[in-house]
Amino acid sequence: MDKLVIRGGEPLLGTIRISGAKNAALPCMAAALLTDEPVILENIPQVRDIETTRKLLAAMGAEVELGFGRAQHRTTICAKNLSDPEASYELVKTMRASTLVLGPLVARCGRARVSLPGGCAIGARPIDLHIKGLEQLGAKITQDHGYIEASADRLIGGEIVFDKITVTGTEDLLMAATLADGETIMQNCAREPEVADLADLLNKMGAKIEGAGTSTIKIKGVSKLRGAKHAIIPDRIEAGTFIIAGALTGGDIKVNGCDPGHLAVLLQKLNEAGVKTKQTADSVRVMGDNPLKAADITTEEYPGFPTDMQAQYMALVTQAEGTSIITENIFENRFMHAQELARMGANIQLDGRQAIVAGPAHLSGAQVIASDLRASASLVLAALAASGETMIDRVYHIDRGYEKIEAKLAGAGARIRRIE
Ligand code: EPU
Repeated sequence: MDKLVIRGGEPLLGTIRISGAKNAALPCMAAALLTDEPVILENIPQVRDIETTRKLLAAMGAEVELGFGRAQHRTTICAKNLSDPEASYELVKTMRASTLVLGPLVARCGRARVSLPGGCAIGARPIDLHIKGLEQLGAKITQDHGYIEASADRLIGGEIVFDKITVTGTEDLLMAATLADGETIMQNCAREPEVADLADLLNKMGAKIEGAGTSTIKIKGVSKLRGAKHAIIPDRIEAGTFIIAGALTGGDIKVNGCDPGHLAVLLQKLNEAGVKTKQTADSVRVMGDNPLKAADITTEEYPGFPTDMQAQYMALVTQAEGTSIITENIFENRFMHAQELARMGANIQLDGRQAIVAGPAHLSGAQVIASDLRASASLVLAALAASGETMIDRVYHIDRGYEKIEAKLAGAGARIRRIE
């Protein structure tokens, strides 16, 4: 199992280029199941979850070609022959987003068999809202042996009001509704930029979707979708992670190829915490050499403070003067990084859904374990600011969602290496 070894204390300097958004790429790959023509996706990040999705689609009979060399960020998917519309437990347990194939499969093939995901390191992660929504579109759902089976001759447009905002739930049903008979209106939808990006692709494929990126989405069903070419939006969470790296190390870096509009609440909060940033249309420069001040956050659905940035923000405020209260509203168990940060010297008290972080604390390198993707990112950040050497175990978590993180950080002057 790979480990990352980081010697802290170097300011990050220079530029870091952002990859395509994993959480937009995954639903866009699933969307290719809706047509028998090729879908070409560009700006695909080279991360483990993309490879898992390739396996998932290939197991159903789709042809998935991941590019090499200069085309390494392109993938072409042709789902002409879907012989086996099933997502196995083996794949769903390694990547919960595999459930994104449920809606597209039942819409295109009239049936789908998808393993239930079960819990994970950050919380329960049920898919009841995906199932309820599909039932509202006329699908018949049964559950057996840990699998959900959905069937429908053709889905029928309907009204879906989500009890709770769900990102992949919105995406799953959005895809299903594109091929339904008649109009679907979905309310209380997730407004994440990744939902809007998926809708952009679907509209290029011939879907008729309005309102994606707002809480009400209208979809006029069509009988067939065609192939299309689409470039995935930049990864706002990767960008936010590197912005915090610049701030934590007292560096001066330009995070290039991102969309600062997707980072508004984070940038505002960083500003409150004393971090100076300057934006252009597609970059954020972080001038990190200022004292950090405590600032509270509460995670919320977009456009609120993202839960996917909570762990990284916690690493930042370990170095801020004063007490910061971090409230996690989206997942019930997303503080696993707190214990590991404490092993490095951070002063963090947990109280239910709140973490109380007192700073600044002296961080010193230690052996730590990554528990999930964003938790691993927070340990990398803390290690960059710590004295001495940190060794992070179970780096496979970080490889799921960050493309070549050690190369990107080393390019900006970090002393980081991977060992096997
Ligand atoms: N929920 C339900 N029932 C459902 C679906 C969700 O109760 O049927 C609950 C969840 O348990 C959770 C809340 O609703 O408490 C929000 O979950 P959501 O469905 O929005 O999460 P998700 O779609 O499974 C996506 C991202 C996550 C990100 C969350 C929240 C993808 C592939 N994953 O997950 O990303 O944390 O939205 O923004 O888009 C990551 O990239 O590290 C990551 C975990």
